[in-house]
Amino acid sequence: MKVAICPGSFDPVTNGHLQIISRAAAMFDRVIVVTMANHNKRPLFSASERIDLLRRATAYLPNVEVDAYDGLLAEYAREKKAIAIVKGLRAMSDFEYEFQMALTNRKLNPAVETVFLTTSAEHMYLSSSLVKQVASLGGDIREFVPACIVKDILEKYGRNE
Ligand code: PNS
Repeated sequence: MKVAICPGSFDPVTNGHLQIISRAAAMFDRVIVVTMANHNKRPLFSASERIDLLRRATAYLPNVEVDAYDGLLAEYAREKKAIAIVKGLRAMSDFEYEFQMALTNRKLNPAVETVFLTTSAEHMYLSSSLVKQVASLGGDIREFVPACIVKDILEKYGRNE
């Protein structure tokens, strides 16, 4: 069984993430989406909230499961016997940081390959930070995130629409 991991902060999951997850699900037997701490960011949603949003958003993908982990991604991949870490690449601006993480993860766990999937053109610009900014300023986020989680995001900003 070929296991892949899709790691991220997913704060919250966007349509861009979801497309990468569903493409990974078509390539591997089992995909584990894992919410992790990004030590450079303070999350809006707690780990358990992010898991709940991801579970609802990926419910239509039978070989995808959702988990949370606090430690090193390389260790988690070893524990789960994963052969790949799948990440979406949007633009050159993502590349340097992602390349650095991929090299670090390979040093820590040479058994796992980092696989980059190029984001589709329609999701090039999309990020969780952008979604939060638009939501906080009263904008429409329905184009950016799965329909089943729109309400959860708006509620964080006191919007009951
Ligand atoms: O969605 P993000 O914020 O780009 O995801 C970054 C994430 C969570 C994948 C990265 O910060 C990570 O792997 N954190 C886990 C801790 C770890 O293994 N750090 C070393 C990675 S080189």
